[in-house]
Amino acid sequence: MAECSGDRRQERLYGPRGGCLGPSQPAAPGERQVNARTRVVSVVGARPQFVKLAPVAEAMAAAGVDHRIVHSGQHYDAAMSQSFFADLAIPAPDVNLGVGSGSHGHQTGAMLAGLEDVFRAENPDWVLVYGDTNTTLAAAIAAVKLHLPLAHLEAGLRSFNRRMPEEHNRVLTDHAADLALAPTEVAMAHLEREGLAGIARLVGDVMTDVCHRVADAVRPAWRTEAAPSADGPRLATIHRPDNTDDPARLEAILAALAALPGRVRLAAHPRLRAKASEFGLSLDRGAIELIEPLAYPAMVAAVLESVGVVTDSGGLQKEAYLLGRPCTTVRPETEWIETLADGWNVLAPRPDGIVAAATRPSPETERAQPYGDGHAAAKVVAALS
Ligand code: UD1
Repeated sequence: MAECSGDRRQERLYGPRGGCLGPSQPAAPGERQVNARTRVVSVVGARPQFVKLAPVAEAMAAAGVDHRIVHSGQHYDAAMSQSFFADLAIPAPDVNLGVGSGSHGHQTGAMLAGLEDVFRAENPDWVLVYGDTNTTLAAAIAAVKLHLPLAHLEAGLRSFNRRMPEEHNRVLTDHAADLALAPTEVAMAHLEREGLAGIARLVGDVMTDVCHRVADAVRPAWRTEAAPSADGPRLATIHRPDNTDDPARLEAILAALAALPGRVRLAAHPRLRAKASEFGLSLDRGAIELIEPLAYPAMVAAVLESVGVVTDSGGLQKEAYLLGRPCTTVRPETEWIETLADGWNVLAPRPDGIVAAATRPSPETERAQPYGDGHAAAKVVAALS
């Protein structure tokens, strides 16, 4: 174990790893070497943030950054949290605040109080926040109140739908940030329009880094041509409050999934199960084959094996696009508008549009590469140096 050095270092107060990180590893050729004493605290808490953290943590280690991981505890079931750390070889969190579920105010407030203590103890050079969850917003507020530099990964996304908690979280976080790390040109344009061009950097999408790598690992050798079998299942996920929390709408969505031809593998988020149970709606009906939330490699494999995806998840829309499967998005809009090109992704704002959209012929056009070249994480680390 390396000796602690430098006055920014403080004695570790918590966490299984303890002490200082081990010796720096050399940066990969062509990557910029970050000052080994740069201390970055990454704050994550929900499933999609663990996926984004995986390539970033690896790039931080390769560049010799003193990288600490703080888990808010927003997601806590093994299938929603630990499995991602294990499957994606992410170092265990240095701190887990164990905040758990709650209303937006209670959950965000508990995280804010806990993170303030952690940030005081860690005194990082950067607080790095990911995406648009309540964990993102809590960490952003805690950082700026302590005058700590704040970097926002996946900055500049907009749905322009103020009903979405994620839209509040991402807009507020972008405007609190000192560095807005944008995944796409469209996100850069949003930041510019809001007067944030001065802090914006285009780095690409770190989910591209991890998606392709995991796909290479899970894609069966005999299916390297990437063609799903014609009678393959569809993969579905539904978890957004706008879709789950209104009984009539949820019933209509489930009825549409159940009416699709072939099998529909529905990976049920805990919110979906809870709401269906509360409203007395059956999830296991018709074409629907109910499954547990999938670990990340299993999710990538399920997309590859599918003839198409039906979802309201942002990450899954993009994974379908990256992996070349048609997606139907059960929402009135998407932040990832690049996926709509040539009909690779189609919006189904109303449940009665789901069947027609999900049974459309698969597009045959080449897909562009709007989400970067799979090396975004190294650019994130360079931007923080
Ligand atoms: C959160 C994010 C959303 C993201 C999603 C990914 C916010 C506002 N929303 O939504 O942007 O797309 O994560 O999954 O931050 N629950 C469990 N076990 C868990 C976690 C949650 O049972 O491990 C249940 C609880 O009943 C909880 C509900 O799921 O109340 C919702 O969890 P929460 O973290 O509040 O929001 P998500 O819907 O997961």
